[in-house]
Amino acid sequence: MNEPLPVAVLVSGRGSNLAALLSAIDRGTCHARIVAVLSDRGAAPALELARSRGIATEVVSAKSFADRSAWDEALTERIASFDPQLLVLAGFMRLIGSALLARYAGRIINVHPALLPAFPGLDAPAQAVNARVSISGCTVHVVDAGVDTGPVLAQAAVPVLANDDADSLHARIQRSEHALLPAVVDAIARGRIVLESPPRHVALAGVAAEPLVWPPLL
Ligand code: GRF
Repeated sequence: MNEPLPVAVLVSGRGSNLAALLSAIDRGTCHARIVAVLSDRGAAPALELARSRGIATEVVSAKSFADRSAWDEALTERIASFDPQLLVLAGFMRLIGSALLARYAGRIINVHPALLPAFPGLDAPAQAVNARVSISGCTVHVVDAGVDTGPVLAQAAVPVLANDDADSLHARIQRSEHALLPAVVDAIARGRIVLESPPRHVALAGVAAEPLVWPPLL
């Protein structure tokens, strides 16, 4: 087996997806190595988690730069210094810039808390609750210049319950993210997903046992 895939993770917040990646790596179900965790927010709890695991961290705050393009260049340079093969946006709340996108074209993935192309952008769980849909979920996709528009790599569905609010739905969606994101990173590391343009699924691990139908009418 080849070496674990060197991955840089970009975060702005809590870091539960980072924790899920680290657990899967520990369990041997995600053939990756997290070489650095970078954030635009010094207060992101995800940074503490990374430090507690001895992972290199960097804060590249937009406020410290004259404009967006200077921030983008600095972030790109800091990421490149760790020589990752894949960038994972795991709750990174800023649009990435053109320098980063160009340097890692097709090798940046994002996890989004909705079944794209439904509910892109901010507050996706609230959008789903307000739209009164019955099923939502999460998407792992390749990042392009748009907002949550890049090619979909994998999705997982969860039910939206009648008494859900945005928080309860987001909590359920996050449980699906914590399984799906490490699985996608592992598939990339093992060459089952090839990040060319468009991305290719080389060998599917299996077929979903059943389609999720909610409410259970069938
Ligand atoms: C996740 O729900 C992800 O889909 C969205 O931001 C959230 C990050 O959560 N992009 P966490 O910081 O990984 O807990």
